[in-house]
Amino acid sequence: MTAPKKTMLSAVQPSNRLTLGNYIGALRNWAQLQKDYDCVFFAVNLHAITQRQDPKELREQTRRAVATYIAAGIDPKEATLFIQSEVPQHAELAWVLNCYCYMGELGRMTQFKDKSAKAGENIPVGLFTYPVLMASDILLYDTDLVPVGADQKQHIELTRDIAIRMNNAYGADTFRVPQPVIPQVGARIMSLQDPTAKMSKSDPDPNGSVYLNETDDQIRKKLKRAVTDSGSEITDDESKPGVRNLLTIQSALTGKPVSEIVASYAGKQYGHLKVDTAEIVVQSVSPIRAEADRLMAEKSFLDQILQTGAEKARIRAAKTLKRVYEHLGLR
Ligand code: TRP
Repeated sequence: MTAPKKTMLSAVQPSNRLTLGNYIGALRNWAQLQKDYDCVFFAVNLHAITQRQDPKELREQTRRAVATYIAAGIDPKEATLFIQSEVPQHAELAWVLNCYCYMGELGRMTQFKDKSAKAGENIPVGLFTYPVLMASDILLYDTDLVPVGADQKQHIELTRDIAIRMNNAYGADTFRVPQPVIPQVGARIMSLQDPTAKMSKSDPDPNGSVYLNETDDQIRKKLKRAVTDSGSEITDDESKPGVRNLLTIQSALTGKPVSEIVASYAGKQYGHLKVDTAEIVVQSVSPIRAEADRLMAEKSFLDQILQTGAEKARIRAAKTLKRVYEHLGLR
């Protein structure tokens, strides 16, 4: 008998378009891992409404996020792939967890502090309890591992604290306690405009990121405008974060070690590095965009995938919720 696969879960906010950083740092790795892990992936549109969204755009971006996952190699037959709002148990368990999470804990969340500072006078309660819905996302699927960026680690710690607290009160089998998996810093893709900051889909400057739905020409233009450093020699060192970022992107997409790439640029200039990097990025992104576009256009096909995914997810989530309700005396 083989050991049961570990459950790996991750989610993406559909409020912004996915970037090359998401692809290199997350999506393509998951495509590799989906055979060895029981993978659960979804688009968190309920999280997205903690900030105002245009309904038409939200609907479109949510579908686009799922289509992009598939285009990047996630197999909906292998993984459980769905849209958060189609699985009502996420909101139901979130209520329960709200009753076991403390105001003080949520007030300490860095992301809440940042976002609420920008929200003005009326801070939505949902922004405050955002991490509780995230804990619900994770705990509903008896998750073992949650691959996330370093900025989300605090939310995973909170999820663990709530799970352990409830396990102590209601029995150790109430929740499986998840663990974060934080990618190593070296492989991080940085902004093309500020190579000391991470390439982020919530960056207000669209020139900092390559989006996975951009045309080849848009990608080429962005890389041409990428900020490089003073000097002219192509070397991999700390004082040249812009050059290093382009080398990292090339290395990540070609599999060649950075040192080999550096050696191939002896006597060449930044311009060469930018042009080559652009072509390598185009080669990776172009097929993903084409496939995501095709899925978006084939409405009923994508609908079918989403329906099957949501059904799979609901069955699993309902089982966990029933167990929790029984432990708490709610049924
Ligand atoms: N908060 C995460 C982010 O902003 C998105 C998210 C919601 C998530 N639920 C999750 C990530 C569950 C991992 C697991 O990136």
